[in-house]
Amino acid sequence: MSKFLVSLFVYLALTGSVVAALTEIEEDFMQDIEDIQKSMTSNISLQDAATAKSEAVELEAMFKDVEEFYVKKGDAADAVDWSKESRTYLVAISKALEAKNFDAASQSAVSLAKTCKACHKIYKSKD
Ligand code: HEC
Repeated sequence: MSKFLVSLFVYLALTGSVVAALTEIEEDFMQDIEDIQKSMTSNISLQDAATAKSEAVELEAMFKDVEEFYVKKGDAADAVDWSKESRTYLVAISKALEAKNFDAASQSAVSLAKTCKACHKIYKSKD
């Protein structure tokens, strides 16, 4: 049994801060995305705007890495678009939470979940 994708996550420690470059879309990274997404969704329904917003900001940064990965990889325009869409929804979620508009935040969270599925349908390899 061979793995389709070798998991590699390169950390570069620079001047005290950690800069991470995604060299593969690895399972742990995606698992983190899912954990944060689930937590964010539940915090939106609990109307914990501050926590949910910090999670939206974190996810937005993670999808920036995903987007950069697919830009570098090339020949993956739709994956780049889904990463961008994810970021757009996450920015919308942050803004909605700032305004304490929990309905709008949860609507964007539903749209976000659809982009997860859309990308997985094409790009997620089966073990
Ligand atoms: C732009 C493409 C893309 C988007 C958007 C995306 N993913 Fe993924 N995801 C992948 C790929 C590729 C894999 C397969 C990685 C692998 O198996 O090595 C994956 C795998 C996963 C896995 C399985 C990890 C495992 O242990 O097998 C989970 C969970 C996951 N993604 C959650 C999410 C969630 C939640 C979202 C949305 C908030 C999301 N992903 C959005 C590309 C994407």
